[in-house]
Amino acid sequence: MTKQMQRPEIDAPQLPSKKDHPAGKCLMSRRKMLFSSGLATATVMVSVGAGAAAAKVPAMVTTYPRKKISKLSALKTDQPVGFEYPDEGAYAQSMLVKLGAEAGGGIGPQKDVVAFNYFCTHQGGDLSGTYKGDTKSLGACPLHLSTYDLTRHGILISGQAYQSLPQVLLELQGDDIYAVGVFGLIFGRYDNLQG
Ligand code: FES
Repeated sequence: MTKQMQRPEIDAPQLPSKKDHPAGKCLMSRRKMLFSSGLATATVMVSVGAGAAAAKVPAMVTTYPRKKISKLSALKTDQPVGFEYPDEGAYAQSMLVKLGAEAGGGIGPQKDVVAFNYFCTHQGGDLSGTYKGDTKSLGACPLHLSTYDLTRHGILISGQAYQSLPQVLLELQGDDIYAVGVFGLIFGRYDNLQG
């Protein structure tokens, strides 16, 4: 009989209290460091094992920063706006655009506002300045001509790449647009949050 791996259960995040960390000074300086780097961490309790043998252990989880990037009312159809996300490191340049056509992951009344990283998933060609309003696409990549469909989560239309363009996940709060995560791996990074 084969043993089946159990998926760990993850409880709601619990921020550490001062009581749990008598070395309050040390905790404060670490929090300051995390805030200045734009990243947030939380301690979550992870269940390991099954039944009576189950145990809960703490694990540190890094979460994406929530970054205000524009106002919905400021966007004009087919005019991309540049921003950096999830940090200001290499390959963070991204674009926000109101497509004027409903799109996967789109926000706003027409579900047509989307955001994508600007670097081709093939070999990192810079796609800035290649947006085409008539096809709602990004490309062709200046290196090997990959082109991506922004209405369908950045899927490849043509070219050498074999992965979709990373999509920046958005939230709308009133008129403010926030970047809150990235779907897909940014070129040149082994982890989107540790570029
Ligand atoms: S780097 Fe873009 S297609 Fe090769």
